[in-house]
Amino acid sequence: QNEVFILAIESSCDDTAAAVLQNDKVLSNVVARQNIHEEYGGVVPELASRAHQQNIVPVIDVALKKANITKNQLSAIAFTQGPGLMGSLLVGSSFAKSLSMALNIPLIAVNHMHAHILAHFIDEEGFDKPTFPFLALTISGGHTQIVKVNDFFNMEIIGETTDDAVGEAFDKTAKILGLPYPGGPLIDQFAKEGNPKKYSFTKPKIAGLDFSFSGLKTQILYFIQKNAAENPNFVEENKADICASVQQIIIDILMDKLKLAVAETGITQIAIGGGVSANSGIRTTLKNAEGKYGWKTFIPKFEYTTDNAAMIGIVGYQKFLHDKFVDQSTVSKARIEF
Ligand code: KG4
Ligand code: ZN
Repeated sequence: QNEVFILAIESSCDDTAAAVLQNDKVLSNVVARQNIHEEYGGVVPELASRAHQQNIVPVIDVALKKANITKNQLSAIAFTQGPGLMGSLLVGSSFAKSLSMALNIPLIAVNHMHAHILAHFIDEEGFDKPTFPFLALTISGGHTQIVKVNDFFNMEIIGETTDDAVGEAFDKTAKILGLPYPGGPLIDQFAKEGNPKKYSFTKPKIAGLDFSFSGLKTQILYFIQKNAAENPNFVEENKADICASVQQIIIDILMDKLKLAVAETGITQIAIGGGVSANSGIRTTLKNAEGKYGWKTFIPKFEYTTDNAAMIGIVGYQKFLHDKFVDQSTVSKARIEF
């Protein structure tokens, strides 16, 4: 059998996702987003797992239908083992386990953070694949890491956040500005209309390749409180400029660390991944870095940036080729060794 069909399931946080891959090509990629969390200003774990339970069967059905294949054609089932919310992970893993048992096909456990990085190996027209070794900047709601990727299954974290993730910096700023959760995409939208040089914020003083974003959040909070005390309409009147300036300082922080990582490793191929890599300012800055610094940068197709199952499927495919399977006794992990 030289065609491999993988059904991939992702349920680590608040999106229920399923995808079908034929080798390294995506046949279908379905995501059911949970809007329920908006009114709470963040993901409520109990509500997330309940919504996963409701969504998982229809999402998988749609993924198979769109791929135009039947369950019996599947070669293996891949699922997200962690990191993530335990109650959410368990819905995906239990479903994957029972399906693999029912169909008598192998089961593959995937690390969500590896998947954000390896999404670059999905075969897509117009998208180059990096060659090993390369550097990956993974930026999401839960993580901020610089990873040296030596091979599909050999990666080292060379820098990471010591407190908040960059996605949290976006989301918490949005909350301060009175925007709904998740606010990252909204900041991106407003920033497009604003002046990134209007307000300046200071970068955290943190040595080496590690990051810190909690100080920036506090700085922004005080800045807003101070200005709103003088003018209650400050945020409304200057929303675009505030968003553009906040986005700019975050981009500057990320770029400083990437430049340092390139200097330290001598590697000039940079791939980004994770939900925050959907940010248009970050995408443009990285594209421009090719001409500016001589890097080769890899920016994923938009639908593979925020949580999705296609990225789980591409890791599943690589693991399938290398016989990296798990059995029914495998457990979900809220935290997972890299
Ligand atoms: O990878 P992801 O979908 O889920 C996690 O594993 O965390 O990332 C979600 C994060 C959220 O913090 C969201 O606000 C942020 O990605 N995000 C963005 C944009 N799109 C999503 N942040 C800034 N600009 C965007 N366009
Ligand atoms: Zn993610």
